[in-house]
Amino acid sequence: MPNQKSNPGNSLEEALKALAEQAKTALEEGFVYFKEDLKLKGSNLKKTDTGAAINRPVIISRASMVSPEAGPICVTTSDFSASPKAGEKAGALNSYNLKIKSCQKCPLGKTRLNFVFGEGAPGAKLVFIGEAPGADEDESGRPFIGRAGKLLTKIIEAVNFKREDVFIMNVLKCRPPNNRAPEPEEVKECSPYLFKQLEIINPVIICTLGNPATQTLLQTKEGISKLRGRELYWNGIKVIPTFHPSACLRNPAYKVDVWKDMKFLRKEYDRLCGSGN
Ligand code: URA
Repeated sequence: MPNQKSNPGNSLEEALKALAEQAKTALEEGFVYFKEDLKLKGSNLKKTDTGAAINRPVIISRASMVSPEAGPICVTTSDFSASPKAGEKAGALNSYNLKIKSCQKCPLGKTRLNFVFGEGAPGAKLVFIGEAPGADEDESGRPFIGRAGKLLTKIIEAVNFKREDVFIMNVLKCRPPNNRAPEPEEVKECSPYLFKQLEIINPVIICTLGNPATQTLLQTKEGISKLRGRELYWNGIKVIPTFHPSACLRNPAYKVDVWKDMKFLRKEYDRLCGSGN
């Protein structure tokens, strides 16, 4: 440490340098220090029980990140007015899991060890959607518990959420062999399960991780790099896409953008749900 008494100017400079170094390391290692960076204000919006779409503002501007030609994407597939209330969601999810967990609609049903339904708080206001189970998830029946999952947990915690308070699931419920990308036919058969889960949970924000989740939800072929930062909705629910944790593990530079998306997500969450949630 520099000598603070004899040279306070240098000491400040050194301290700032050290902080910058620390921040850089945190980005590289995975978000651990960034909790301190959040100076988020509470919301003055009225808190709602289920976060029903009607109570949310429709126009949300993120002007600095929205490219001029890119308007909002608002995908609407169904009417959510019959969505169950918070107390009924756990039961509805459990029954739905029982109903679909023996699925044999695509060849992955034959090769899977476990059907990975997803896990978390049935009344979660924030949902994360990944691509498909990997080897660890296939073996355990739980989503995002391998290397990418550990990073996802850090990302979630870095913006002051707890993993158990959100809901985590995938587009595909069964592992593709050798972790290959989902085939269109598999997505076609499996995505109605995801949509039904979302309909039951009816969150306030959906964070899609990577291309398959984002493109499946928004019914687009546009890539994640173009979709990030735009105003996006699925059935009136705000969608915030970001890079998949596996992409961050392969290329740590993506963590910078993921961190930006997460800070935006936290602000939006507080604005829409109230910061006490
Ligand atoms: N584990 C999951 O559950 N989903 C992914 O997309 C990647 C790893």
